[in-house]
Amino acid sequence: MKYVVGVDLGTSAVKILLVDQQGSVVHEVSKSYPLIQEKTGYSEQDPQVWVDQTAAGLSDLLKKADLDAREVEGISFSGQMHGLVLLDEHYDVLRPAILWNDTRTTQQCENIYRQVGEDRLLDLAKNPALEGFTLPKLLWVKENEPEIYDRASTFVLPKDYLRYKMTGELHMEYSDAAGTLLLNIAEKQWSKEICEAVGIRTELCPPLVAPAAEVGTISESFAERTGMNPATKVFAGGADNACGAIGSGILEDGKTLCSIGTSGVVLSYEQGPDKDFQGKVHYFNHGAENAYYTMGVTLSAGHSLSWFKETFANQVDFDDLVAEVGSVPVGANGLLFTPYLVGERTPHADSSIRGSFIGMDSSHRRIDFVRAVMEGITFSLNESIEIFRQNGKQIDTIVSIGGGAKSEAWLQMQADIFDATIVKLTSEQGPGMGAAMLAATGCGWFDSLSACADQFLQEAATYQPKPENVERYRELFELYKAVYKHTADINHVLMRYRK
Ligand code: XUL
Repeated sequence: MKYVVGVDLGTSAVKILLVDQQGSVVHEVSKSYPLIQEKTGYSEQDPQVWVDQTAAGLSDLLKKADLDAREVEGISFSGQMHGLVLLDEHYDVLRPAILWNDTRTTQQCENIYRQVGEDRLLDLAKNPALEGFTLPKLLWVKENEPEIYDRASTFVLPKDYLRYKMTGELHMEYSDAAGTLLLNIAEKQWSKEICEAVGIRTELCPPLVAPAAEVGTISESFAERTGMNPATKVFAGGADNACGAIGSGILEDGKTLCSIGTSGVVLSYEQGPDKDFQGKVHYFNHGAENAYYTMGVTLSAGHSLSWFKETFANQVDFDDLVAEVGSVPVGANGLLFTPYLVGERTPHADSSIRGSFIGMDSSHRRIDFVRAVMEGITFSLNESIEIFRQNGKQIDTIVSIGGGAKSEAWLQMQADIFDATIVKLTSEQGPGMGAAMLAATGCGWFDSLSACADQFLQEAATYQPKPENVERYRELFELYKAVYKHTADINHVLMRYRK
């Protein structure tokens, strides 16, 4: 038998999939790791932990599968985006990685706008300056930790560092480089103009490759540590959302994805880099060759639900917590939640906004809160869909993956709130599956990612919007949107009281 491995280096865990030539996930291993959150707005991780947990996971996977490691032909990666991993001249890590959901860099974003110009930044990088992106983090280190910045020889993103530790080869690929704010996304080259305007040495930017590029094989030391075969081919991989798109078959115009992980995204395929969304949604290079995608992001999607569980229902099993949610009516008995636990990106690029429960009543039970949290996350994603529709995109069918595709009630809720047909695939693994598909195509199993998708991806079920629910959600969505306006100023002042 022949296999490929897809590694999804997420925010809370690394998930590793062993996939056969039919596209079946024959084994799966997950290893978690913590976030370091020293202050409000801060979010860091130790890159060494990613490497250790992936090595442990791969070794468990090979033991569990009980196969000859030579049967694993290729491996590729999907990674949490934007995280800054700063390396010295020996490629040793200089400080903990600053992650995508770290929002300490508002001042640096303002400086970028001043130095590059808002319109020019959109021309070159196709995106606005947002706290989560990599460039503001690099500038934060330059200003606040100059002794560390001076020792930096390059920077990479989380999965690039992991791949470097597996192969000894250091690269960044286009789909993740697009999230640094330093890439000219149409030309797929580092923008000298942005580097010069903000005062970053261009030599800091690492060599670029395509997501499908074969970049090496497994180093002897990593092979020894894990049991992997040193001849296994390593392919560059992609940003988690780009890989989520591949792993859900979002490979042609008109296809849309809703992915609910720690963050939540709605993304839509774009053939070229030249549409104009005025920076209201992100615009990135796809994992498929010469393609793009546009995307709206809810920073705290699955994270809102796991926060609720950890804080108020720690003893309860996750499945039990959401099991009864279908028995609560649309609107959670008059309870509304906004999921701004770590600030927000789309449509409100606001790092100081925080979440709310509105309408709490002494009749409310825990299950009402659970439904309100799920509805609030879905309303937030619907704000991105609204932007797409207002810009002329037709969105009538959406593939749903991640946590949102694990619950029947949540799938129906998405159909009703998005007013679109929701498709659930047989595998909702998205990013990890996309990484495996890059490896499978790279190994020559298929001529293209689309041919691979035809073999690997199947629809499991579809969910149609129910007109009476669509009507009620339309009204509730207007109330949901009003909460931001009414709570923004209050939250900006409350920021002073957070540690
Ligand atoms: C996208 C983003 C998140 C992370 C999550 O811009 O910041 O979706 O990629 O891993």
